[in-house]
Amino acid sequence: MRIKYPPQTVDRVLIFDTTLRDGEQSPGASLNVDEKLTIARQLARLGVDIIEAGFPFASPGDFEAVQRIAETVGSSETSPVICGLARATRQDIEAAAKALKPAYYPRIHTFIATSDIHLEYKLRKTRAEVLEIAPEMVAYAKSFVDDVEFSPEDAGRSDPEFLYQVLERVIDAGATTINIPDTVGYTTPAEFGALIKGIKENVPNIDRAVISVHGHNDLGLAVANFLEAVKNGARQLECTINGIGERAGNAALEELVMALYVRRQYFNPFLGRPPESEAPLTNINTREIYKTSRLVSNLTGMLIQPNKAIVGANAFAHQSGIHQDGVLKHKQTYEIMDAQLIGLADNQIVLGKLSGRNAFATRLRELGFELSETELNKAFLRFKDLADKKKEITDWDLEAIAKDETQGI
Ligand code: KIV
Ligand code: ZN
Repeated sequence: MRIKYPPQTVDRVLIFDTTLRDGEQSPGASLNVDEKLTIARQLARLGVDIIEAGFPFASPGDFEAVQRIAETVGSSETSPVICGLARATRQDIEAAAKALKPAYYPRIHTFIATSDIHLEYKLRKTRAEVLEIAPEMVAYAKSFVDDVEFSPEDAGRSDPEFLYQVLERVIDAGATTINIPDTVGYTTPAEFGALIKGIKENVPNIDRAVISVHGHNDLGLAVANFLEAVKNGARQLECTINGIGERAGNAALEELVMALYVRRQYFNPFLGRPPESEAPLTNINTREIYKTSRLVSNLTGMLIQPNKAIVGANAFAHQSGIHQDGVLKHKQTYEIMDAQLIGLADNQIVLGKLSGRNAFATRLRELGFELSETELNKAFLRFKDLADKKKEITDWDLEAIAKDETQGI
């Protein structure tokens, strides 16, 4: 057994990306193994701490994706942790352990539901049975890897007293992270914050594990819930690029990271930092956010609404005369962050018929496209052709051209 996982840091917030697992559960968003590898590489460049690469027992494709991500993106001392999901069963845990073998920092994430509604109708198990199974399966996972995460599914609707008992037992069995999912996006920020506070105060061995949160956006509250959780002791956030995921999706990585960045001085005291500290609260290289967002949207085919916070087409656009006038006089009249912070060029070069091949190739790279020489030559000809017909070429036009060329259309 290898005992090497990054030290559990508590003075910053760990970012656990589940775009390739929960995000891929979005209706219509399936990705092939090569596409998952491309996204995983970009997530590593973005600086996420943990990549949940898939659910190895779910399908041979998922197994292969987790294994290939582990051996390429996750194979060195400087790699992110690579995580695989497993239900609390031996066969799931064995599949995850096998797929994760090449990873330098492998993590098994095992889960079982704890809410009465899931126990009665989905699992047909009693609370007493779950109290037995959960620690037993954490201990089993621990026999393969040192870094084990446990999730009590539907924690948001579980009886807190029962939750405390389960969590105490799984930590005793070796769980290094306990993740609290609001599986159906039901809780409100005050409730979710209180749930995390209750866990901190009532689980006696809680200091031996990192508290993580996972949440869905059924009521549009996932990000707000997470921020309340951070104030109450959560130090790992499970999120997806563009907020994709089951139903209304998961908490959006870009929104969480930028909220913690722009408002870092508000959050500093909750992490025990001096209030005026300028140090970022996460390891994310925010300048890679826009590129990552475009890549995930292109590969999953899930479009981003124009008014989406941080990465929507209108997120940094000013339309009304009053706003335009204000921004021209002083940017901060209507802007709380610089577009450059998320990787957009400040003085965006507007591409048109006079633009050269270099500017064209540079913009494509910024949008996340790496084209071969031949693809680039063909794409450039199509761009020139379009530029003759259209005054201004948008990022959407460029992406359409690049996608067509890389798919050989
Ligand atoms: O939403 C959920 O509860 C999950 C768990 C597997 C963590 O995705
Ligand atoms: Zn989920």
